[in-house]
Amino acid sequence: MLIRYYLSIVACVFLCCVGFICKVSASQISERDRGQELYLGKETLVGKIDGHTGALPAQLGKCVSCHTFVRQKVIQEEQAPFLNRISLLNPHARRGGPVSSYNKENFCNTVRTGIDPQYVTLRRAMPRYEISEVQCGALWTYLTDK
Ligand code: HEC
Repeated sequence: MLIRYYLSIVACVFLCCVGFICKVSASQISERDRGQELYLGKETLVGKIDGHTGALPAQLGKCVSCHTFVRQKVIQEEQAPFLNRISLLNPHARRGGPVSSYNKENFCNTVRTGIDPQYVTLRRAMPRYEISEVQCGALWTYLTDK
């Protein structure tokens, strides 16, 4: 009788542990998905226009507000390049400068400082972002998987 009682307690503890582990692993978001959330503005970043002290409103500061095909067609002179594996990794001349391509390190530097891999400064229309290594790594993983 006592044995059955102990066995049921052990079984309960075991099931609770399994449930807990499942819940924890289900709530963990992959790096790529986090990058997508950052790109779409579901996780917000502080972005500022160079020379301004205030942060952009979240709606405007998200990457997808400017870096889309549709947006490219609408605003020609303020064109934001579409960001994906091809545009970032394929070497080509950017902003009239020499040929360059991105890697994670210079991508994060550009997003933070507005200075591209060939030390050409991006136009002010591209905000400068306060972004952690982990957040930037996630964005890079997402964009180079697109
Ligand atoms: C308000 C509009 C706007 C938002 C929001 C924006 N960008 Fe940009 N971005 C631009 C424009 C415009 C350029 C082109 C600048 C130039 O060529 O001088 C650009 C250029 C870039 C470049 C350089 C691409 C290349 O080929 O050299 C990168 C990288 C970039 N943006 C990343 C991002 C990321 C990541 C986000 C979100 C965290 C973001 N941008 C949000 C407007 C924006």
